[in-house]
Amino acid sequence: MTYQPPFKRDPGPSSVKQTHFLPLPPSTHDLPPPPAYHLPALITTYSHLPDRSISHDDTSMTYYRPAPIGCDLSYGFERRTERDEEVDEHLDGLCESLEKVEREGQGKGERRGGVITWRGMITRIMTAPFEDRDGWQMTAIALDGSVYLELYDPSEARARKRQQESSWALQSYMGYAFESFSTVSRDHTDEENAVKGWGGDVNTNVQWCNVIRSAIGEIPLCLGGEVDCVRSEIGSSYPGLSETMELKTNKIIENERQDAVFHKKLLKHWAQSWLLGVPEIQVGFRDDAGILRSQKRFETESIPRFIAALPNPPWSTPPALHFLHAVLSLVTTHVLPTDPLVTQPEVRSSVQDKLPPATVWRLSFVPRRGVELYKIG
Ligand code: A3P
Ligand code: MG
Ligand code: MG
Repeated sequence: MTYQPPFKRDPGPSSVKQTHFLPLPPSTHDLPPPPAYHLPALITTYSHLPDRSISHDDTSMTYYRPAPIGCDLSYGFERRTERDEEVDEHLDGLCESLEKVEREGQGKGERRGGVITWRGMITRIMTAPFEDRDGWQMTAIALDGSVYLELYDPSEARARKRQQESSWALQSYMGYAFESFSTVSRDHTDEENAVKGWGGDVNTNVQWCNVIRSAIGEIPLCLGGEVDCVRSEIGSSYPGLSETMELKTNKIIENERQDAVFHKKLLKHWAQSWLLGVPEIQVGFRDDAGILRSQKRFETESIPRFIAALPNPPWSTPPALHFLHAVLSLVTTHVLPTDPLVTQPEVRSSVQDKLPPATVWRLSFVPRRGVELYKIG
């Protein structure tokens, strides 16, 4: 199927390089209604444990308890355990959990013809029309009827990013500390103590992941992403997506400029949560020293209306949804036919032992311009 985006597809100079170019949609209000993003349905969950190993259950799920105002988000910084960013996990956890679901007899038919990836990749694509600084690259391959999409992060780029991040280490830590101050784990049975706060044990290996299926327009999506916590009684079993929450931190807002920056940031918070079906975002506002000063709750689905009511809305959802649909149409149109199980059916029997060689594609985003898709091997 060839998708005709409602905005002009510019063949541009890139057609010489045999790339497919898709420009950004206009950010005006006269776009036609965008394709719908379907209500996410939960497929499965799994947990990363303190040593980063995977347990196919809700061991790492935590329960929301409001962080105490006045708590120090820099507490425990020197004792933190950070995930080894050198290890590129690709889509391993997500694929392992899907394989388990399939082994246990649930079909994969609904994902055929679509895209399997981390929620963060879809957030990047959706927010690209409003991104004027950071470009990105992704790798796409087709296998067994689906496109697998992951971040392409060559080691030099990763080293550069790590260096930048080291200067933000404390700030980043405070985000995790807020999550820890706002949650208690399932084996924490002492509710009174739990409410008082937390002991400073940030370990970024620990994550609770939800795997959902959804669709943008007619394109099926299977997404994995971290969920911060649930609104439920300590020790209870997972109540479902409707009770999940995302936790975020922000510097306290003291002037109009900071307010405008926060409104821009809400695009990523909204997209990240909405894609996975997380209905609530709790934002903790901290001062420069890391002291939590206030908190505010946002309903994910009402964030776009809140932004639209501003005198100069910095973003809106139609360009984001149009662009997501157009990019994924481009990807599925070109990448799916290169599925080795379609082009070389004889390799199907060997698939259980070893993945067949796949055609590798690159999706590359240049801010303010658009994306290019090209074959790299
Ligand atoms: P904040 O977003 O509140 O600052 P998430 O909110 O996605 O669950 O991530 C939890 C915290 O991890 C973030 O909290 C931030 O501190 C840190 N973090 C997430 N992504 C990051 C990145 N790319 N670089 C540095 N820190 C990051
Ligand atoms: Mg998180
Ligand atoms: Mg969070």
